[in-house]
Amino acid sequence: MLKKPTIVLNVKTYQEAIGKKALEIAKQMDQIAKQNSASLAIAVQPTDLRMIVEEVEIPVYAQHVDPIKPGSHTGWILPEAIKDTGAKGTLVNHSEHRLTLADIDECIRKAKAYGLETIVCTNNVQTSVAASELESDFVAIEPPELIGGDTSVTTANPEIVKDAVDAIRRVNSEVGILCGAGVKNGEDVAKAIELGTQGVLLASGVVKAKDKVRALNQLVRGLIE
Ligand code: G3P
Repeated sequence: MLKKPTIVLNVKTYQEAIGKKALEIAKQMDQIAKQNSASLAIAVQPTDLRMIVEEVEIPVYAQHVDPIKPGSHTGWILPEAIKDTGAKGTLVNHSEHRLTLADIDECIRKAKAYGLETIVCTNNVQTSVAASELESDFVAIEPPELIGGDTSVTTANPEIVKDAVDAIRRVNSEVGILCGAGVKNGEDVAKAIELGTQGVLLASGVVKAKDKVRALNQLVRGLIE
């Protein structure tokens, strides 16, 4: 299981994180994780999963999974195929790729059946509670309006993080809670933890940074200091 507190980087489909470029970021994260004994994980495109899993020790996640069984489906992502790459888990649902609650439930069950960890991304307090009742390993609350922006959710809307933590803990004392959207540096990570989360899920703060190693090192300071 992903060690808490943690920083999970979702490289999305950014130009800066396709193929070898995603591998490069994963290797940088691997090194920084080792140097600082920090828990870092990366979620990459399905086409890059196996290549990256084979090159790094940090947990590698898929960005999406579909609630399907092997068989006659085209262009979907099979839980069993994610497992076969050696990935540790998968994101489930995202404001940029929404699933129904029934699909989220099915994805979590199927992922569990293959020993894959799940991070369900949610857009508000209510969906965060619903996701934690479905017993995912992590829930990551990300207000959609702040995704990709310059201001971290921990500054722009700390109340939503605090409210999500309180509401989730009323129904599930075990699930890991992350927050995301606009997270950029160690202060944002430290604030997220202060608000009761076990870390952050972020993308552009690292992927779009000119100096990714510097951005990662800054983030990690918020975990370890
Ligand atoms: O999945 C992470 C994400 O949606 C947050 O994106 O660019 O605001 O860190 P970003």
